[in-house]
Amino acid sequence: MTQVGNSASSRDIAYVLHPYTNLERHKTVGPQVISKGKGIWVYDEDGKPYIEGMAGLWCTSLGFDEPRLVEAAMRQMQALPFYHVFNAKSHNPAIDLAERLIEMAPVPMSKIFFANSGSEANDSAIKMAWYYNNALGRPEKKKIISRMKAYHGVTIASASLTGLPANHRSFDLPIHRILHTDCPHHYRFAEEGESEEDFATRLAESLERLIEQEGPETIAAFFAEPVMGAGGVIVPPKTYFEKIQPILKKHDILFVADEVICGFGRTGNMFATETYKLQPDIITVAKALSSAYLPISALFINEKVAGPIYRQSGEIGTFGHGFTYSAHPVSAAVAVETLKIYEERDTVGHVRSVMRRFQDGLRAFADHPMVGEVRGIGLVAGVELSKDKATKTSFDAKDGVGMYLAARALEHGLIIRAIPGDTITFCPPLIITAKEIDELVARFGKALDDTAAWVAQKG
Ligand SMILES: Cc1ncc(COP(=O)(O)O)c(C=O)c1O
Repeated sequence: MTQVGNSASSRDIAYVLHPYTNLERHKTVGPQVISKGKGIWVYDEDGKPYIEGMAGLWCTSLGFDEPRLVEAAMRQMQALPFYHVFNAKSHNPAIDLAERLIEMAPVPMSKIFFANSGSEANDSAIKMAWYYNNALGRPEKKKIISRMKAYHGVTIASASLTGLPANHRSFDLPIHRILHTDCPHHYRFAEEGESEEDFATRLAESLERLIEQEGPETIAAFFAEPVMGAGGVIVPPKTYFEKIQPILKKHDILFVADEVICGFGRTGNMFATETYKLQPDIITVAKALSSAYLPISALFINEKVAGPIYRQSGEIGTFGHGFTYSAHPVSAAVAVETLKIYEERDTVGHVRSVMRRFQDGLRAFADHPMVGEVRGIGLVAGVELSKDKATKTSFDAKDGVGMYLAARALEHGLIIRAIPGDTITFCPPLIITAKEIDELVARFGKALDDTAAWVAQKG
């Protein structure tokens, strides 16, 4: 894909620093330039179509050409392109969006705080938990528990919550007061013969041990993605949250549900909080909030947390947190329109009507000699490759088997992601049809067979 001269590729190599890219290798290989989108499809600069099997970055829920979102942005641009919500100023898109979110909240929530990204939302949630405990006169109750393989973002605090080596290594992270408990991946971490329920019990006991060792009076909050995304689409084992939540309650630890991927229909309910019967104190959302057409994220905060925060701000004289672009009116207007579309078109109903086909289509590969596990829920899934199914041995990272498969999928016109550990992830736009699901699955099958042939040939 490297081109010479003044092409987009050569200018890209010269000037763009790419996240999640091997920057040294990129200098010679160059980027794939995507130029337009339609429905679940995107097109590269040569006009080749691809099924966007990841909805970009788990986010473009309504596909790549929803005219109502474009019009909503234009209308707001013309009316009021910017205003803020600092110093008790406001504007209608912020008010409408907050009101709608509170109505939609899966558990009773009291306030909405706006930010621009999932990372900012999770950073803000940490700050809320700290401010809340200061308000309650508990200055030592500040540690946060996250989980190994979690992904909560890349700002300094949210990257610390993230439990993946690449986000810590060489960045001097995690910061202190962030702890990581077990990853709830049954296939990888259960003991021989251990049921999902027993595995969940063991993890809950391990969490409680950690809390007791550290001292419950030092732990402010527990963060969890209901379904872990970038860690490899890890669906919680049966009874996991049922067992974790009473422990948090017992030790007066806030529960923050990171629904940045799961929120707005991904798991077959509007929120995964419903899917897994969660009782979070704070929920963070982003991505599908605006179908990713513009950056916006939000925190739902319940009254238990909001009450003390308001009182503390009264004592201090201000609440000293917020971003210039918190509740940016154009982003907020697009989010309001996105939520209207979800309601009018019953997007969740659509997800429910196609998700079985999607899950079954991918699960059909479970018997493939190179597939260790197929997992997922709703319209999100992971296929973990395995060198030896019986022993669950992974391929050597340096063999790049997952990357090879993703490259073959690209050849077949399918964008999917290979994450470390050779899990191939799928998270298509929520508007995907049954026919498009069949096409996605067929293209993946070809890429998998190509990869098996390549592995066999390498010996
Ligand atoms: C569960 C989860 N939380 C937080 C984030 C961070 O969001 P952002 O990249 O918008 O900062 C992501 C991003 O993928 C995510 O998947």
